[in-house]
Amino acid sequence: MTIAGIEALGLAVPPFTLPLTALAAARGVEPAKFTEGLGLGSMAVAPPHEDTVTLAVRAARDALQGIDPNSIGLLIVGTETAVDHSKPVAAFVHGLLGLPSACRSFETKHACFGATAGLMNALDWIRAGSANGKKALIIASDIARYGLGSSGEPTQGAGAVALLISTENLLVAFEERISGSFTKDVADFWRPLDSKDALVDGQLSQTAYLQALEGAWRDYQAKAGRDVRTDDFAAMAYHVPYGKMAVKAHKHLRGLEGDADGRASYAEKVAPGLELPKQIGNVYTGSLYLALASTLLSHPADLTGQSLSLFSYGSGSCAELFVGRVAAGAQARVRAKPWSALLAAQTVLDVPAYEALFKARDAQDVARPRVGTPGPWFAGEDARYRRYVEG
Ligand code: HMG
Repeated sequence: MTIAGIEALGLAVPPFTLPLTALAAARGVEPAKFTEGLGLGSMAVAPPHEDTVTLAVRAARDALQGIDPNSIGLLIVGTETAVDHSKPVAAFVHGLLGLPSACRSFETKHACFGATAGLMNALDWIRAGSANGKKALIIASDIARYGLGSSGEPTQGAGAVALLISTENLLVAFEERISGSFTKDVADFWRPLDSKDALVDGQLSQTAYLQALEGAWRDYQAKAGRDVRTDDFAAMAYHVPYGKMAVKAHKHLRGLEGDADGRASYAEKVAPGLELPKQIGNVYTGSLYLALASTLLSHPADLTGQSLSLFSYGSGSCAELFVGRVAAGAQARVRAKPWSALLAAQTVLDVPAYEALFKARDAQDVARPRVGTPGPWFAGEDARYRRYVEG
C-alpha cells in the first residue's frame, strides 16, 4: 500500500509584527483580554508589497530546499485572500518558482479549509497512482483582515505554510485512508467580493467551530469503527484562529469523554502546537499547519512513531479530522529550520505604524516600494496585470 505524507514544511511571514499588548492599550482594552482571554501574543503584519503570492513563494522555497523543482507534478494553493477573481495564485507561484510545465496547478477555496482540501486531493492523487512518481506542493497562504477597531482585529495575522507531499523521507505519514468530515451551511464568517475585510459573527463562529469539530470527530469514529479517544493521540493539532479557540476545542472533545476539566490533557497534547500561532496570529488556511509545525518544533517528548490528530475548520463551514504518524527524525529536521531567526528578524511596529500599513493596503494594486523582504514582491499593476519583482 502506498503511504503518502508530508516530506517537508516551509514557512513564510511578513517582515512586521505587532504585540497584542500594544494593540490593547491603543484600543482601551485590558491587555489580559487579548493575552489570556484570547491566548494571543503578536500578530504578523503584511506591508502593501506583500501578498498571498509573495508569501506562498517564500514558504515554498523554504520547503523545497534540496528538492528538484522538476519533481513537482501538482501545485495547489489554498487561500481565501486571493489576488484575482480568475487567475489562481497557483499560476503566479508556478511561474515565480520555475516549476515544470508538466504540472497541474490550481487554487482551492473554502475559508480556512482551502489548503486541507488541497492536501486531501494530493494524498488521493498519489495513492491512486496518478502522480507517476511526482511530488505535490500544497501551499496555504493568507493575510487575515477584519478591520481597524473591530472585535476581530486582534485575531488577524499573515503568513504561508508550504507542504511537500510525497512517499519518501516523510516527516508525517498519513497511513489511514479515512478522515472525519463535516459540512454545514452557516453564516459565521464571510467576505463579500467587494470587501478586503472579513465579516464575522464572532460568537456564532465559535459555536459553529465546536459543532463542526464534534461532527468530524464522530464521523472519524464511525469510519474507524471504534471508540476513538483523545488519549489515542500523543498530540492534537487544531485550526488556531487564536489560542483560546484550540483550548475550547480540546476541552469540548475531553468533555465528550467525561473529563470536564481537560487541562492536563491540553497541556500535554495541544499547548506545544500553539507556540508559533501565538507569535504569528491567524494565517487562515495555514493555521492548522502552523500548529502542526509548532507541535514538531516544541513538543518536549520524542514523538517518533506516535499518532497525532489534525483538525481543519473552514467557516461557512467545512471541517475534516485526520490522523498522521510522526516519522523518526522529524522533530530534529523541523528544529533545524531557520524559523526562530525569521521571527526574530521581524520589525516590531507601534500601533500608528501598523494602522498606516493597514490603510496602505486599501490603496491596493498600485506601484509601491519594497520594504526589505527578500524574495519576490508585488510591484503594482501594469495594464491591470499584477507584476512581481525578485528582491
Ligand atoms: P470579543 O467579543 O471581543 O471577546 O470577541 P469576548 O467578549 O468574547 O471575550 C473573549 C474572551 O476574553 C472571553 O473568554 C472573555 O471572558 C475573556 P471566554 O469566555 O470565551 O473563555 N476576557 C478576559 N480574560 C482575561 N482578562 C480580561 C478579559 N476580558 C475578557 N480582562 C472573538 C472575541 C474571538 C469573537 C473576536 O475576536 C472575533 O470575532 N474573531 C474572529 C472570529 C474567530 O476567530 N472565530 C473563531 C472560530 S471561527 C474560525 O476559526 C474560522 C476563521 O479562522 C475563518 C476561516 O475559516 O476562514 C475565523
